[in-house]
Amino acid sequence: MPDNKVLKITDTVSWIGALDHDIVTFDVVMETKFGTTYNSYFIDAEKKTIVETVKEKFWDTYLAKLQTLTDPAQIEYIVLNHTEPDHSGCLARLLEVAPKAKVVGSGNAIRYLKDLLGFEIPHLIVKDGQTLDLGNRTLQFVAAANLHWPDSIMTYLQEEKLLFTCDIFGEHYCNEAMFDDAVGDFDDAFRYYYDVIMKPYSRFMLQAIERIRPLDIVSILPGHGAILRTNWKKYVDLSEQFAREALREQEPNRVFLGYVSAYQNTGVIAGMIAEGIRQAGDIHVDFCDIEKMGMAEVEQRIIRASAIVLGCPTFSQNILLPIYQVFALINPIRDRNKLAAAFGSYGWSGEGAKIMTSAMGSLKLNVMDEGLMIKFTPHNDTKDKCIAYGKKFGETFLNAMS
Ligand code: FEO
Repeated sequence: MPDNKVLKITDTVSWIGALDHDIVTFDVVMETKFGTTYNSYFIDAEKKTIVETVKEKFWDTYLAKLQTLTDPAQIEYIVLNHTEPDHSGCLARLLEVAPKAKVVGSGNAIRYLKDLLGFEIPHLIVKDGQTLDLGNRTLQFVAAANLHWPDSIMTYLQEEKLLFTCDIFGEHYCNEAMFDDAVGDFDDAFRYYYDVIMKPYSRFMLQAIERIRPLDIVSILPGHGAILRTNWKKYVDLSEQFAREALREQEPNRVFLGYVSAYQNTGVIAGMIAEGIRQAGDIHVDFCDIEKMGMAEVEQRIIRASAIVLGCPTFSQNILLPIYQVFALINPIRDRNKLAAAFGSYGWSGEGAKIMTSAMGSLKLNVMDEGLMIKFTPHNDTKDKCIAYGKKFGETFLNAMS
């Protein structure tokens, strides 16, 4: 069935977004069992304005919706609060039919768009607090960097008291009714979206919420999912609660020590390093055989820890897959500067520690040293060395945290 849905939000503002019932995963890793929507809005002010576009594959539908409301050639501004292609995907084609339009966004957004599109675009860079006169309406821009890209802003339509937030306060949830009071219960989708997309940026979420609290808001118009015309306060409060919970999750004296071990040589080294860390002082060592745990559990433990120690045997001059999977769970924004170290057993040339410390450095962890590698089996004569290594790590950790 063709999607020709256009929704009037106020006399001036309409939703002209795309409904995507069929999407199965988003950004490769995010399950989207409720589908999603790409919300774009048309502001029928004296200076006609679009806020966000939609994913490129919906261009024909999108243009048809827009043309029911205006001649695209009359559009003067296209505001992009965030430039990920699910929101900027139709920009190039929109600019073809809206040749006098300027693209409005943060400095980062405009830089990203040049690289995304491959050509210069007519643009207007806006900063926090700046306003843009649409004739009979006024846009005010609100900084929201790192939610969830460095380009992100929010846009407040002063006269209508509407706040356009793109990914912030959104969720992947597709229901044609679109309004929060009409689509049914989408709280699970909202929580999941927060956990996957926003949680690593929780401290930025608190800053953004602080910025919008003084605004007189009637509705929040996000870039995905339900338009929050009735319960926007609930979803802002929930976001604040989730952010505070996420920031409380990290424990200051907790070290994640995760390892894999084929013949328990690396496992024995892990035990001795853990003993050394504990000897350094009041430190909780979260001792984990990664092979016995799901990666979701490993991620939760990494979030809770303030330092990360990884152990892996060297295997054919490489390390093993589960440790690469652990690296995929480390978030350089969330976990930046956590103290880190690597260790393992080896038989031939022992590249494991070098591979792990190199990856840890690239992921913005604070790598203590070149790591500890023990040839084949850790016998009694290496026990002191392993315990001393753990103690050195523990003392470095306590110093860093004091
Ligand atoms: Fe919905 Fe970050 O894009």
